[in-house]
Amino acid sequence: MMNDGLTINPWSSQQSTDYGRIIEQFGLQSTSDLEIPSPSKLHRRGIVFAHRDFDVVLQSQKCGEDFGVLTGLMPSGKMHMGHSMVIDQVKWLQSLGGDVTIAVADLESSATRGISLSEGRRTAINEYISYYAALGLEPESTEIYFQSRRSEVQKLGFLLGKKTNIGEMESIYGFNGSTNMAHVQAPLVQAGDILHPQLDEFGGIRPIVVPVGVDQDPHLRLTRGLASKSNWFNIAPDKSRGLSITLSINEESAQCFGVDAHGRINREKQRETYLKIEQTLSTLGFSDISSNPKQGTVSLPGAKKTDTHMVRKVLLKLERELGGLGLMAPASTYHRFAVGLTGDKMSSSKPKTTLFLGDDLDVTAKKIKKSFSGGQATLEEHRRLGGNPDIDVAYQYLMYFFEEDDKALQELYQGYKSGKILAGEMKQTCIDKASEWLKELKEKKDETAHLVEAFLSKDSKD
Ligand code: TRP
Repeated sequence: MMNDGLTINPWSSQQSTDYGRIIEQFGLQSTSDLEIPSPSKLHRRGIVFAHRDFDVVLQSQKCGEDFGVLTGLMPSGKMHMGHSMVIDQVKWLQSLGGDVTIAVADLESSATRGISLSEGRRTAINEYISYYAALGLEPESTEIYFQSRRSEVQKLGFLLGKKTNIGEMESIYGFNGSTNMAHVQAPLVQAGDILHPQLDEFGGIRPIVVPVGVDQDPHLRLTRGLASKSNWFNIAPDKSRGLSITLSINEESAQCFGVDAHGRINREKQRETYLKIEQTLSTLGFSDISSNPKQGTVSLPGAKKTDTHMVRKVLLKLERELGGLGLMAPASTYHRFAVGLTGDKMSSSKPKTTLFLGDDLDVTAKKIKKSFSGGQATLEEHRRLGGNPDIDVAYQYLMYFFEEDDKALQELYQGYKSGKILAGEMKQTCIDKASEWLKELKEKKDETAHLVEAFLSKDSKD
C-alpha cells in the first residue's frame, strides 16, 4: 500500500491532498485534457480532478451510444454532504443519458460493520434512497439493488476471485495475515457490483463509469485488473502501425483457442476461431486483417488508435459468444475531498466534522459558526492581510455544495482574500445558503417520498 510514502486507502482516516502527486503515482489522467459537455460546478471548479478512461464514456455519449453509471452506498450511519456530492455527479451523468445502477452494500456492511440485513435495508431506504429522490435523481433510469438479493453480483465476485490472489490483495489494500476474510471478500463483491451492469440481463456490454473519491481508487484498480485478466483478447497499438490483438490463453479460453489440456494444438479449432475473429473485425469495415496463430496475434495495420474502443467492444461480444465473461474495464472519475468542518477529514463517524442532510437548521448554523476558518487572528490583521479562502471551511462548502453561481463565488473569493469580507461574514453567507439548500431539500423529501419504491429494482423489492 505504501508507495513512496503516499498512501491511498479506502479505510484510512488520514488523507493525502496532494492531488498532483496522486495523479502521477497512481497513473490517473487529469480531467483538464477532457472536453466535458455542460460541465457541472464540480467540473468547472476542478473538484472532479482526475479519471481513468472517462474519455471512453464521453466518446460513447457523444456518439449517442449507451453508457452506464454505477455507485454504491454503505447502509450505515446518516447521509452527509460528502455523499450528496457523489449523487450530484450521478445526476449529471444521468442528464447526459447514462443509465444508473446503485448497489446497497448490505453484505459488506453486515460482514464488516455488524449491521443486520434488515437494519441495512431500513437505513438504505429511509436515509439514503429518500434523499436520492429528494436530490432529484430520476427513478426512470435508476435502479437500486441490494447485494444480498442479487446472486449475479455474488457469483461474478466469486468467479473473479480466480483472477487475483492474496499477494495482490495485500499489495493493493495493505492486508496482512490477520486481516479478517470479510475484508478480503468485500472488494470482490464490490468488483461484482461494478462489473455486473455489463451482463446481458443488466443492459449488456457498455462503458460504465464509477464516480468516487480518490480514496476508493484501490477498488477500481482491483476491478480493472480483474476485468482485463479475464479478457480473452488484448488490444494494443502495434509496434509498427495499426492495432494488434493478442489472444490470451487461460483456463477458460484455451479450448476455444485450440489448445488442449496438454498444451497440444488442435489446428482445426484454432482456424475456426481465427476465422470468427476475422469475420467479426471485418464487420467494422477493416479489410486488411492478418492472423498469426503461431504468435497468437491478429493485426489490423489500417486501424487507428481511436478505433480501439470499437474493436474492443466487438471482441468482448465475441468473447461472450465463445463462452467468456466479456467485461470492459470500468471507467472512473475522482473528486477532491470536501474538508471536514474542523479542518480535518470529513467522517460520518465524527458528527462534528460534517453536515448531515437531516441536521436541523439551528444545528447546521452552529456547526458552520464553529467551523475552521481561514481568517486572521484579529479584525485589523484580517483587513490588512486578507483571509485564506483555500483553507476556510465556510468558503469551501459554498464552493463544493451551496453556491451554484460561479461569479458570486469568485466575488466571495476575491473579497475574502483582499480582507473586504470578514471570516464571520463568510460563515454567515454559508449559513444562509446552506439553510436555503437544506430547507428546499426537506420540502423535496416530503414531495418525493412516494417515489422511493420506484427506485428499487425488481429483485430488491420486498
Ligand atoms: N464500499 C463502498 C463504501 O464504503 C460502497 C460500495 C459498494 C460501492 N459497492 C460499490 C461504491 C460500488 C462504489 C461502487 O462506501
